[in-house]
Amino acid sequence: MKPFSLLLLVVSPLFIVVNAWPNIRDAPSTTVDIQDGQTGTLMVLPPRQTDTGTKRVPDSDHPFVAPGPNDMRGPAMNTLANHGYISRNGITSFEEIIRGTGEAFNIDPLMASGMAALNLLTRGNPFVDKISIGGVSPLIPPLPGQIDGPETQGITKHGRVEGDASMTRSDVHIGDNRNFNQTLWDMDLEQLAKFGDDGPDGPATVFNLQTLIELKRQNLESDQVLDPEFAIPIRRLNAVFGTTKQATKRIISSFFMNQTFPENWFRAAAPVLGSSIPGEIAAALPQWVPGHNDANGVFVADPQPPAPFNISSGCANYWDTLVNAVPGTLADVTGIFKQNVDMLNGILFNASGCSEPIAPAGPTNI
Ligand SMILES: *[C@@H]1O[C@H](CO)[C@@H](O)[C@H](O)[C@H]1NC(C)=O
Ligand SMILES: *[C@@H]1O[C@H](CO)[C@@H](O)[C@H](O)[C@H]1NC(C)=O
Ligand SMILES: *[C@@H]1O[C@H](CO)[C@@H](O)[C@H](O)[C@H]1NC(C)=O
Ligand SMILES: *[C@@H]1O[C@H](CO)[C@@H](O)[C@H](O)[C@H]1NC(C)=O
Repeated sequence: MKPFSLLLLVVSPLFIVVNAWPNIRDAPSTTVDIQDGQTGTLMVLPPRQTDTGTKRVPDSDHPFVAPGPNDMRGPAMNTLANHGYISRNGITSFEEIIRGTGEAFNIDPLMASGMAALNLLTRGNPFVDKISIGGVSPLIPPLPGQIDGPETQGITKHGRVEGDASMTRSDVHIGDNRNFNQTLWDMDLEQLAKFGDDGPDGPATVFNLQTLIELKRQNLESDQVLDPEFAIPIRRLNAVFGTTKQATKRIISSFFMNQTFPENWFRAAAPVLGSSIPGEIAAALPQWVPGHNDANGVFVADPQPPAPFNISSGCANYWDTLVNAVPGTLADVTGIFKQNVDMLNGILFNASGCSEPIAPAGPTNI
């Protein structure tokens, strides 16, 4: 059967990682850095996987185990955690995200490191190199000195990366933004029934470009009306459009509803590094620019980023992320904390197309 990549499961909302990888850090730091009673962990880009072709996933080392009551789960990465491609407790790290998404989905480390960097900088503790794929966890301390408030949130927390107009989760101001919403999925499936291609599982079961355009249009239109505080800043709009190659109803349903790999599933045949689909969806929906509802529920466009950050959508996205979603207190950290923050920011900057980097400047404790 044809391998499908499933970026949307990790990209939008966004993601996490593996205790199946015994020693992820190949170059442990010799410098010990203790801040506020926490021991820093220097992040290291893991080496590329040597096997980069397709293969059956999961393998026998990664059986499905339903999460226990203390395991974190959230809007994304649940399948990876249920199979141990990231830690089954839902507390993961920079390296685990890269390894886990590479192993299970063949996501290229360049792309995975961008996703990991975004999540660690906005909702993790990048000093100890930990992030929760759900909510607040006793296993992750607040940032040293509590410079982003008394708790480290997880990726479920609304406002920085987690946002509106998801395909299967409600806006936080409408309902439950963490768990799968059958009503939303049924609405998506109506678009699939109208626009989908025929495939091995039957008529109108394959998500083609037109289906993705129509269901994103519907997600955006419906949430703009229902959610008084609807907001899609550029960093969120990019994530909403950030979907992937063709996939089928059977495959996507298995990930969304059962949070497991579909039967007989094979990962992508080559490392996955972005796709033209988000750009094609954006081009088909030109009325959906970055913006938010005003006090009267009228959708208004956000201001453009200042020059020189307005040169491209990628650069505008980087600007929005650093200025509005990465806590500004991260600009003043020291030691291993600073080395990690600088590396994560460098990853985002390198992918941005901007001509100059930006220091973190976002609000704290939100
Ligand atoms: C699911 O989505 C529908 C449609 O937006 C909404 O009316 C409902 O409140 C949502 N349910 C939950 C539990 O969030
Ligand atoms: C979910 O799992 C159940 C039990 O194994 C199965 O019957 C059902 O077909 C699965 N649903 C999807 C969408 O994969
Ligand atoms: C960026 O902003 C500057 C200053 O407002 C403006 O002159 C320039 O045309 C803008 N560039 C783009 C590509 O929009
Ligand atoms: C960013 O790109 C520069 C130039 O290619 C490279 O030297 C640097 O290591 C990259 N930074 C990160 C964090 O990947």
